[in-house]
Amino acid sequence: MIQDKKKKLAHIVTFGCQMNRHDSEIVGGLLERAGYGSAATPETADVILFHTCCVRENAEQRLYSRISQLKRLKADRPDVILGVGGCVAQNEKASLAKRFPHVDIVFGPNAINDIVSLVHRVESGEKPVVATPDDGPDPRSDLALDHDESRIHAWVSIMRGCDNYCSYCIVPYVRGRQRSKRPEEIIEEARALARRGVVEITLLGQNVNSYAQDLDAGASFARLLESLDKIPDLLRIRFTTSHPKDLSHELMLAIRDLPKVCEHIHLPVQSGSSRILKLMKRGYTSDEYIAKIEKLRELVPDINLTTDVIVGFPGETEEDFGATHLLFERVRFDGAYIFKYSPRSGTAAAAYEDHVDPETIANRHRVLLDFQKDASLDRLKEVVGKTQFVLPESIDKKRAGNLLGRTRGRRVASLKAPPDLIGAECEIHISRLDGWTLIGETRDKR
Ligand code: 5AD
Ligand code: SF4
Repeated sequence: MIQDKKKKLAHIVTFGCQMNRHDSEIVGGLLERAGYGSAATPETADVILFHTCCVRENAEQRLYSRISQLKRLKADRPDVILGVGGCVAQNEKASLAKRFPHVDIVFGPNAINDIVSLVHRVESGEKPVVATPDDGPDPRSDLALDHDESRIHAWVSIMRGCDNYCSYCIVPYVRGRQRSKRPEEIIEEARALARRGVVEITLLGQNVNSYAQDLDAGASFARLLESLDKIPDLLRIRFTTSHPKDLSHELMLAIRDLPKVCEHIHLPVQSGSSRILKLMKRGYTSDEYIAKIEKLRELVPDINLTTDVIVGFPGETEEDFGATHLLFERVRFDGAYIFKYSPRSGTAAAAYEDHVDPETIANRHRVLLDFQKDASLDRLKEVVGKTQFVLPESIDKKRAGNLLGRTRGRRVASLKAPPDLIGAECEIHISRLDGWTLIGETRDKR
């Protein structure tokens, strides 16, 4: 009797940004198509893959300790295949396999399409397998695994790399020059996702609003949004991340006028001091940033505005930090990721003198976090009493009979509604706030 071969299982661990989460989904989808199941833990997996981030040092250190922890597992089960992908892999290349001899595969972001053959090479005895090409074909977003949220929501990568070379940032060195996908390809992928039942897509790129600057004249991010807005079965289009210097009037109008494009923008400011912004090579001043926000809010009053900011950039004085604090008071962001500056070797800022001492950085970090926590809650309270469109995504486990979803501005909302409304946009009246969740009554299915 021929026995069925036991299905092999893969476990993927993701660090870092949405781009990495999306790459992990694609890798998962490719392995699934090649017959691999998915394992909930490394202990039960035949293939363990890490998708790594090197934007800040502490994420990289956490990764190294996770890899070290797997030495034991690998010693007990030498057949387990251990792969490290993503930005750390691309940055460190073969030296990563030298430093961690129990690592079988080192694969960069441009090699994710080849993951199945890389695994097969290890299975046939090659070790280590290092694949960190400088470029490669665009991975198709609709190859992503049927993940928890994927029936409703999917990521669509529209470009790779970044040309900005902000002085603190390692991304351009690791992910390479900006390469935009052709609009026809993106539209086709979005159509394929919509056919599978996806109703919300998030367009991904390091700088989505400089999309197409490397393509022929005629294409632009706003025009891409216009085309995607016409796909009948899609309900919502989101995008991230945007760069303030490329936030055009055309894009503001697209957010205002295109019905499917949601009213949320993540617009990293990085600092409120024009002197520091110049040292960061961001290409705008603090006043220019504020002027763009004012214009955007005039056109789209309900826009949800979130940001990234770095405290403790080399040379940041109390006065510079004060300017950041002031900008936060003036703009009143709905949310902010506040980072402590982390020197990355190879970037221009790593060679700057005048590094701020860690205690000062920690203090500034705490001050801004405290400020922003209150500000975020105040902004959220302003939504209470309003009518919002909410797209339920799952059962609300905390509130019986309720569904959990997001408003168009991406705020979390809970509403009393039957499970068959999952994936259907509902119009609800927000009656109160419970913690950080908006609570609403269903009015109507859109
Ligand atoms: N140190 C601290 N934060 C950084 N970021 C990027 N590089 C660094 C660094 N060297 C932050 C920026 C960026 C976000 C993704 O990470 O705020 O917007
Ligand atoms: Fe890094 Fe600046 Fe490019 Fe963003 S825009 S990825 S911060 S270099």
